[in-house]
Amino acid sequence: MKGVILAGGLGSRLSPLTKITNKHLLPIYGKPMIFYPIETLIRAGITDIMIVTGGSHAGDFLRLLGNGREFGLKHINYTYQEGEGGIADALSLAEYFAEGDAICVVLGDNIIERNIVKAVKDFKTQGGGAKILLKEVPDPERFGVAEIAGETLVNIVEKPAEPRSNLAVIGIYMYDGRVFDIVKTLKPSERGEFEITDVNNAYVQEGTMTWEMLQGWWTDAGTFESLLRANILVSQTGANNVDQEEL
Ligand code: DAU
Repeated sequence: MKGVILAGGLGSRLSPLTKITNKHLLPIYGKPMIFYPIETLIRAGITDIMIVTGGSHAGDFLRLLGNGREFGLKHINYTYQEGEGGIADALSLAEYFAEGDAICVVLGDNIIERNIVKAVKDFKTQGGGAKILLKEVPDPERFGVAEIAGETLVNIVEKPAEPRSNLAVIGIYMYDGRVFDIVKTLKPSERGEFEITDVNNAYVQEGTMTWEMLQGWWTDAGTFESLLRANILVSQTGANNVDQEEL
């Protein structure tokens, strides 16, 4: 399984912090933001990684990360998203890298307290389709929100004004090799972006989407409030924690 980290977009909600650097290079406690999704993948045993970046400071990723020696990697793949066409648009740039394999996609501003070791194992035995992770949140209207009936995932709605649950779809997604064909069928949303929620709903409708609850805290870091929260949470517990017995 390969890993894709989406770190494109312009980070405009964090202006002026993002005027002279990329959002994913901003500090979260002791490390640049991009370190956390890289560690999320590595801790789950995924070491073949592509970073999709964008904007006018993309060269700084190379200066910061190089070939990933600091993470014990031999190589990191990079690609560049023109503009801000949405998460699914950024994902489409990884098709060549994936070469038909299953992928684990992590949004570059998502940070977790624990790990995705079990979810990745479960997805590998699932035999195709997709998997998402859910987390209860107090402010579901900010996220993709899952509607669950019993154990069945019925639908996902992107940033609903009236959420049907408090279950946010976090920014870690697992897909089989068909995901790039699905992305090609998408139409831009009302906000003019290719939405990852539309990709996920395609798998939901097909009946091949599974879900798990994420253990430990989760946060994004794309607004001033969530950037502050991410710093505080990481300072208190660290991130990407794995117990020996989970491996
Ligand atoms: O954090 C989880 C949420 O992320 C999900 O619950 C939502 O369903 C999903 O749409 C997304 O919502 P946001 O509106 O918070 O996403 P945002 O635009 O902040 O983008 C998140 C990351 O995705 C960003 O840090 C980099 C990457 N991205 C985003 C865009 C718009 C790209 O690589 N390219 C893009 O064009």
